[in-house]
Amino acid sequence: MATATREKPRAPRRKKFTPPTKKIVIAFLSQKGGVGKTTTAAHARDWFEQFGSVGFVDADAQRSSSRWLSAISADIQCSVMGDARTLLRELPNVKQQYDYVIVDAPGSMEEVSRAILSRCDIVVIPCQTSQLDLDSNDDTIEMVEVAQDIRGGLPKAVMFFNRAQEGTILLREALEATDEDNKVRQHVFPLDTVIYHRTCIMDVPGQRTTALRESQRLEKSRKKRGVKKVKKLTSIEIARNEYCQLFEEITEIING
Ligand SMILES: Nc1ncnc2c1ncn2[C@@H]1O[C@H](COP(=O)(O)OP(=O)(O)OP(=O)(O)O)[C@@H](O)[C@H]1O
Ligand SMILES: [Mg+2]
Repeated sequence: MATATREKPRAPRRKKFTPPTKKIVIAFLSQKGGVGKTTTAAHARDWFEQFGSVGFVDADAQRSSSRWLSAISADIQCSVMGDARTLLRELPNVKQQYDYVIVDAPGSMEEVSRAILSRCDIVVIPCQTSQLDLDSNDDTIEMVEVAQDIRGGLPKAVMFFNRAQEGTILLREALEATDEDNKVRQHVFPLDTVIYHRTCIMDVPGQRTTALRESQRLEKSRKKRGVKKVKKLTSIEIARNEYCQLFEEITEIING
């Protein structure tokens, strides 16, 4: 599997994976635009569905995720809540209705982000690897820090690198920088899983699917054709595996 792992992972991987054990609101949030909030949130929706009911809240007025999800299937439950007051009022009600609630936050809408941080149980921050991205991540971490102060440590917070280029010095340095950054370590747990830049990930919304669904479709079609052994995984299957590893790692933090 094409994932980069830190030299000294702080949380040793458990041998046996335990599915998420509690009702939870998971927000994908960053003040920085275009880092992969919507893409990761939509994939998380598919992944968590194997364990229970999933509600999805599109908190971005652009409505990218709700459009994508409704194009995949009319059966996907998705609410659009673009303002802070509605989120503050409604998120606890939505939590009652589902086992898991995924929230796709907007970029640079401070009031909406603060409302989400007041109501979610865990916040997942996608980040890209350039210095400019790392610097602008500080604003998001500062907001998380304030929420954690007010809420006695909640929400739990994790970050991961998205759209990274495999084997680059930029990625290695970004991983090292977050390891060394005390502020990040104190408030936001850096995950080991990296999601690499893959064209197939950019393609899936246009194909009205996700990497998880498309991989499943490929597997079914191979089975139908009697193909038993696969010599090489396709890039969509590699992407699927990376997402699964990311969500397993997040689940370990949720359960921990
Ligand atoms: N791992 C990846 N590999 C390649 N492309 C990616 C990856 N993750 C996201 N993208 C692409 O990056 C762009 C931005 O992603 P996305 O819309 O998910 O970001 P966002 O943080 O939700 O943006 P916004 O702040 O505007 O809501 C999209 O074109 C998406 O397809
Ligand atoms: Mg988005």
